[in-house]
Amino acid sequence: MYRMYDIITKKKQGEPLTEGEIRFFIEGYTEGTIPHEQASALCMAICLRGMTMEETAILTDAMANSGDTVDLSAFGDLSVDKHSTGGVGDKTTLIVAPLVASLGGKVAKMSGRGLGHTGGTVDKLESIPGYRTSLSPEEFFEISRRIGVCVVGQSGVLAPADKKLYALRDVTATVDCIPLIASSIMSKKLAGGAKSIVLDVKCGSGAFMKTPEEAKALADAMVEVGTACGRKVRALITNMDVPLGTHIGNALEVKEAVRILRGEQEDDLYRVCIALASNMLSLCMGWSVEEAEEKCIEAIRDGRAYRKLLEWISAQGGDTSVLEELSLLPVSSICYELCAPEAGYISHMATDGIGTAACLLGAGRAKKEDTIDPAAGIVLQAKTGDYVEKGQCIAYLYTSSEALLPAAERAFLESLTFTSLPPVENPLIFTR
Ligand code: URA
Repeated sequence: MYRMYDIITKKKQGEPLTEGEIRFFIEGYTEGTIPHEQASALCMAICLRGMTMEETAILTDAMANSGDTVDLSAFGDLSVDKHSTGGVGDKTTLIVAPLVASLGGKVAKMSGRGLGHTGGTVDKLESIPGYRTSLSPEEFFEISRRIGVCVVGQSGVLAPADKKLYALRDVTATVDCIPLIASSIMSKKLAGGAKSIVLDVKCGSGAFMKTPEEAKALADAMVEVGTACGRKVRALITNMDVPLGTHIGNALEVKEAVRILRGEQEDDLYRVCIALASNMLSLCMGWSVEEAEEKCIEAIRDGRAYRKLLEWISAQGGDTSVLEELSLLPVSSICYELCAPEAGYISHMATDGIGTAACLLGAGRAKKEDTIDPAAGIVLQAKTGDYVEKGQCIAYLYTSSEALLPAAERAFLESLTFTSLPPVENPLIFTR
């Protein structure tokens, strides 16, 4: 018989916990027999004293099995998932999921909503009229089997221990701890059932992890934990020190994703998507990354990836006419031209600030209960490294309320740094 008091004391003294102790904690906290104050004391002790990889893997497995799990074994090795640690303008799932499905992968995926300065795939998909993010398990499986891609919202019965623990960590300053982040993310991925998982660990001012070193430590922990739990896992560390692509905001991001899938744009967003998709395909199809990359480029060029997008959206009830004619997507009544306050190179964009500006326009939520405006957001006309003249347009701000503009403009401008010399550029993909 375990006692929470002893478990907290043990971790406070820096000792590793046993499998029995970790499972006792997760089961008891999920059921409600362990109170929040003891759970929060243990989380703080873990933050301060850390966890070994073995403890982290047990914690992950216990959380993954605290509720329902999705069984994708019928897809054999073909099931593949991706996870991004969150960023600004990150619409990669909208592009990568149909691209991978057009080449034979099975992307049966649960995605989250946006919170704070980062966006969420479910909100982006809901800007397509009719798209259903909530399906029965049978429908979810059937669409994944027939089309090769299905993306729904995260159900509350998947990894409920993580849901409860994450809410607690959020208010007890215990989020920024690698074993807790790794187990939280990987528990949901494991419960999601895919055999292969590609992690896009973002790094920079718009991300959780601010430096490549921190991002690498999180990526290593997640890959080790996922591998220990029997999955094929790979991680890319990608730059989030500048928004990805040019469009930020839900319907605006759908528009940009469609353009990439139609082969109309070959920029930073395109390159990150090709890298993610080719790593996913390499894991689930057994191809080399180089071979998978060539196939991805071809599937975009010959229209297969775009046609798969239309099939997928239609299967989930979405009106595909808004994708075929992008001007039919929700549009804001106000489009404000934001001009450069001075001449110079944009040497840095504090990307969390740019995400906040988009939220202030109505594109995101400050708290879970807030509603979002699908048409609101930002379209960048200049990014880090670009030279702009004073008064030149650097972004269009879209909103449905004039009153929201001043605060958003302020947040945007405060995020920019100008210099007279061009800045040193960060790589787009730091490492795999
Ligand atoms: N995202 C998660 O899902 N969990 C964390 O702990 C941090 C980010």
